Amino acid sequence: MGLNYYQIKKNILRARKLVIKSTNIAGSGHPGGSFSMAEILGCLFYKYLKYDPKNPTWEDRDRLVLSKGHAAPGLFSNMSVAGYFPETELETLRKFGSKLQGHPDLKCPGVEFCGGSLGTGLSYSIGIALAAKIDNKDHHVYTIIGDGESDEGQVWEAAMTAAKYKLDNLTAFLDRNFIQQDSYTEKVMPLDEELTGNNISEMWKDASRWKTGDKWRSFGWNVIEIDGHRVEQINAAIAKALATKGVPTMIISRTIKGKSVEHMEDNPQWHGKAPDSDVVPLIYDELDSQFMIAPSIIAGDMTNLENEVKRCVNGRADYIHLDVMDGQFVPAKTFDHNKIKELRPLTVIPFDSHLMIAEPVKHVRDYVEAGSDIITVHTEVCDESSFGEIHDLLKQNQVGVGLAINPDTDLPEWSYKFLPSLDQLIVMSVVPGKSGQKYIPETHEKMKKLNSILNAHKFTGYIEADGGVNLENIGSCFEDGARAFVGGSAIIGQTDVRETIREFRNQVLKARRKKLIEKAHQLGGADLANKWIGLHVVGEKQDQIIKIAKEENLL
Ligand code: DX5
Ligand code: ZN
Repeated sequence: MGLNYYQIKKNILRARKLVIKSTNIAGSGHPGGSFSMAEILGCLFYKYLKYDPKNPTWEDRDRLVLSKGHAAPGLFSNMSVAGYFPETELETLRKFGSKLQGHPDLKCPGVEFCGGSLGTGLSYSIGIALAAKIDNKDHHVYTIIGDGESDEGQVWEAAMTAAKYKLDNLTAFLDRNFIQQDSYTEKVMPLDEELTGNNISEMWKDASRWKTGDKWRSFGWNVIEIDGHRVEQINAAIAKALATKGVPTMIISRTIKGKSVEHMEDNPQWHGKAPDSDVVPLIYDELDSQFMIAPSIIAGDMTNLENEVKRCVNGRADYIHLDVMDGQFVPAKTFDHNKIKELRPLTVIPFDSHLMIAEPVKHVRDYVEAGSDIITVHTEVCDESSFGEIHDLLKQNQVGVGLAINPDTDLPEWSYKFLPSLDQLIVMSVVPGKSGQKYIPETHEKMKKLNSILNAHKFTGYIEADGGVNLENIGSCFEDGARAFVGGSAIIGQTDVRETIREFRNQVLKARRKKLIEKAHQLGGADLANKWIGLHVVGEKQDQIIKIAKEENLL
């Protein structure tokens, strides 16, 4: 399908919501393991997998084998978003006569493998891959196995076989979420090391203790280790796997079971349990409020932008915000596409290029070729036709499409027709031209008006707050509807970027939790609020949420 980063994330969000909807209606199912592999499925279905939903048995299709078959809701939701069947079909999950059962079944067109009895999917995949080699076919086979599933001996027999037959048309993902049906993997049968206590964040602390990859390397596989929730890392790993010849590739994907819904995350209870109906709207709201932190590197050492990018990478930024200024649209000059091209090889973290330049339609191709993941141009220097040209060029090149407005600019009417397909709207909260300025408070009021226009025109992209955003005002920027936050002097201007980004995330998390408590009260009063808070049983989340509720007199 070849979608851009933003559209992949949007479809992943849709699929997660369908997992919640279908398991809730079925009253059973496996949301936890569906969510830990959500980004992996998203990158496969919306970028790399070759398939035709209208012709599920197309001979040259790529094959996707879900060996951890219990995560069927995740597979089915993505198949629906990808066009195999209408979303309404998911309401029949696990019902008699439905083609969508608790585990994938060949009765459902597009399903390649009846997963569920764990340990067999990799062997099955080897069969398909071998057959493709014998038949001189060049389709690829992708397989997703669980870490708990790796306790099965057959997985390792298959691992040996795939290497023996040099199956480079086979790429496997290990959904490494540390939880299996009855406990933590590292308690049942450690792949890395024995877990003492019940705090699996211990396992995240020091990735150097990771030995799972060494096991697969010793079986002769090409191994890539990634953060299994970072779309850019998954995409880069698949590209590397497809370019690797003579050996099969195992992508060890560090994931979180229940990822994206706080009370489900790292919580073994949600291996195989459906959410209650009264909590579903809260879960949808939480899923709609995923957010990104984007440091702006011009707030750093302009003579060493390579190092500023490295600081963002070490700081675990979600995007890197690149402020291009040409000395015409704004008085200042920063850098142009040549610098972006130089910086590109440093990281796969998405480049969020903000073009503060005159006549962007003349130059935008340079920024596509330089490797931008999203390009945002200003309405003040566009009109319907020039922005239409920019929009089409970016879509054709799988680059996100962004529009920006200055503090004193309203969204021009000509832009409304583009809103449904826009990936990002930058709402400037400083006069563009430099970092380190104060946030213009009138922006909050402006956002209120803007939101009604955006809703009316089916905008489903991210609002990016850009300019003077800091720890004090980011919560209200979130309440205004921003979901991407640029931090120049408030992040890059600080010594410890990682700690600062962590604090930014915590502030947004606080605002989101407050919003969800308020929503719970609206929908079901104190009972629902207490029930929702009570679901947060892992770590200190519950105490933190109770504290917020008390501060806001919501308890
Ligand atoms: C201003 C830029 C902003 C700015 C952000 O023209 O578009 O991205 O660099 O820096 P702070 O967060 O310091 O305002
Ligand atoms: Zn900017």
